[in-house]
Amino acid sequence: MKIVTTEDGSHSLYSEQFNEHYHSTFGAVQESMHVFIEAGLNKCALPEVNILEAGFGTGLNAFLALQNSIEKGRKVYYYSIELYPLKEEVYRELNYAAAVDFDGAAKYFQALHEAEWDTDVQISPDFTLRKVKSSLTEAALPQVFFDVVFYDAFAPDTQPELWTEEIFAKVYSSMKREAILTTYCVKGIVKRAMRAAGLKVEKLQGPPGKREMIRAVKVGSDKGGLGD
Ligand SMILES: C[S@@+](CC[C@H](N)C(=O)[O-])C[C@H]1O[C@@H](n2cnc3c(N)ncnc32)[C@H](O)[C@@H]1O
Repeated sequence: MKIVTTEDGSHSLYSEQFNEHYHSTFGAVQESMHVFIEAGLNKCALPEVNILEAGFGTGLNAFLALQNSIEKGRKVYYYSIELYPLKEEVYRELNYAAAVDFDGAAKYFQALHEAEWDTDVQISPDFTLRKVKSSLTEAALPQVFFDVVFYDAFAPDTQPELWTEEIFAKVYSSMKREAILTTYCVKGIVKRAMRAAGLKVEKLQGPPGKREMIRAVKVGSDKGGLGD
């Protein structure tokens, strides 16, 4: 695992195991803000939001969602699945608390990483975190529960098993009606798998350096299952 500095000055990681970067090398914070916060979380108008994340990783998306919750005074329940948690010597070197400066940022970033796994942990008065140490392929998700999904797995060329119709059907059944899923990946097989699982898929402008991204919405009923 190597720390790299992306073009907006924020860090990312390069995984030798997967031969992949955790974020866009054009800017990690910039990408997360664009794809997950602006195109996802900020499009949800509910007073309380349940977020599902695929891949906790560096905790950057959780950190930006926490900042958003504090600044908007909005309650967030953040449920994040991760199979390979980072070691302390890696996450404590990441510069996100300096790159995304808000009151108590460093303390909050540490709290996100130190939070116990597989239990609810109160990070701020309005932000509850549950990190689930499991594979997304194995995890049993709460049904009809999430309002926003941050789909941030490694790319389909590296981990095709995380971009299948079966996986998106499982995610679909965990979403409430009108829930929004965003992801940086716009591959044809991903769009087809999402549509086959029942999601309505649209392409949006991507973050700097990337042409496009995907936002998908659950337009069917609140019931789970394929294509309802
Ligand atoms: C693109 S990275 C993004 C992580 C994170 N959202 C971030 O901002 O750092 C993908 C993450 O998915 C995790 N991952 C890989 N295989 C997984 C699996 N089968 N189930 C859950 N997470 C997985 C990786 O360890 C990595 O942390």
